[in-house]
Amino acid sequence: MKKIGILTGGGDCPGLNAVIRAVVKKSIQYGWDVIGIRNGWKGLINGEMELLTEYSVSGILPKGGTIIGTSRTNPFKNQQDVQKTVDNIKKFGLDAIVAIGGDDTLGVARKLYDMGIPVVGVPKTIDNDLSGTDYTFGFDTAVSIATEAIDRLHTTAESHHRVIVVEVMGRHAGWIATMAGIAGGADEILIPEMPFDIDEVCKNLKKRYDRGKTFSIVAVAEGATVKKTDESDQNTSINSDSGSKLVTQTSETDAFGHVRLGGIGHFLAQEIEKRMDVETRVTILGHIQRGGSPTAHDRVLATRFGVAAVELIKNEDYGKMVALQGNKIVPVTIDDAVSKLKTVDTDLYDIAKIFFG
Ligand code: F6P
Repeated sequence: MKKIGILTGGGDCPGLNAVIRAVVKKSIQYGWDVIGIRNGWKGLINGEMELLTEYSVSGILPKGGTIIGTSRTNPFKNQQDVQKTVDNIKKFGLDAIVAIGGDDTLGVARKLYDMGIPVVGVPKTIDNDLSGTDYTFGFDTAVSIATEAIDRLHTTAESHHRVIVVEVMGRHAGWIATMAGIAGGADEILIPEMPFDIDEVCKNLKKRYDRGKTFSIVAVAEGATVKKTDESDQNTSINSDSGSKLVTQTSETDAFGHVRLGGIGHFLAQEIEKRMDVETRVTILGHIQRGGSPTAHDRVLATRFGVAAVELIKNEDYGKMVALQGNKIVPVTIDDAVSKLKTVDTDLYDIAKIFFG
């Protein structure tokens, strides 16, 4: 008999409930109890927990969000919270913890594991930027939503002979922009991995007009950076990796040191309109990409991940994250998953580039 704690941390993501359901159902098969830790690491610090029964997880498979709540709390911000976390694990008698999250949440999981706490990870993020796994759950749903948006924007852009810039999520990696851009036939895709030059973007778009096209769709990831910003009076901050500039909403940072991105779409639209003299509009998809029901693909992946996480606990194989490699679910170390971001493959971006302009 084991007692397992489960938590969801960071931004929510379609498929979280499917993982929770799978962990609960598989654990019940083993005769174990599953304790839902409320609101990510915050619930562990504050001791906010509830028993998850078969009844609690009934009907949640297609539901977006997370029934146990989430937060961007980082217990390692201060020593007291680390102590409270460790004390509560003992107090509530948790034999193991399933941490469902992206690099921030799993970064905390890795540190706890290093302190001797039995933790396993499940890779979650719509951004798909975790290493060790081909895909995270939630990504497919986000790509489907962004693709549908691009399809819809095409018809209105064409009717009005406009450029439409569509800003999608993707803080450090442009997976959503690249995949949805390819699937939706975007005429330009701008991603954090490749700082862009506005003149180059406009040059590409002009080629379309030379061929008689009178509209364009530009897909841009929120974390895409601008090489030249002399003309810009937007909120910007320096991207430490590339030295280029990020457009941000505020300079405040969250518990993991991230600024709130957003605004690159408006900046880009303004510059395109100015340089090309073509009416330009912006659509920011924002949290629509994260809300609502997961695709069938994400439901299946999340379910497989949840079952595999319980198997890791059964084998007492801690410090591991379940991962998708090819069509197999395999364990990788949490350390490997969080030590490096998974950025967009150059090969894939080269395919996307064939269709630019
Ligand atoms: O979860 C990752 C992410 O979707 C990023 O792409 C985005 O920058 C961020 O979440 C936005 O999060 P919040 O919900 O805090 O605005």
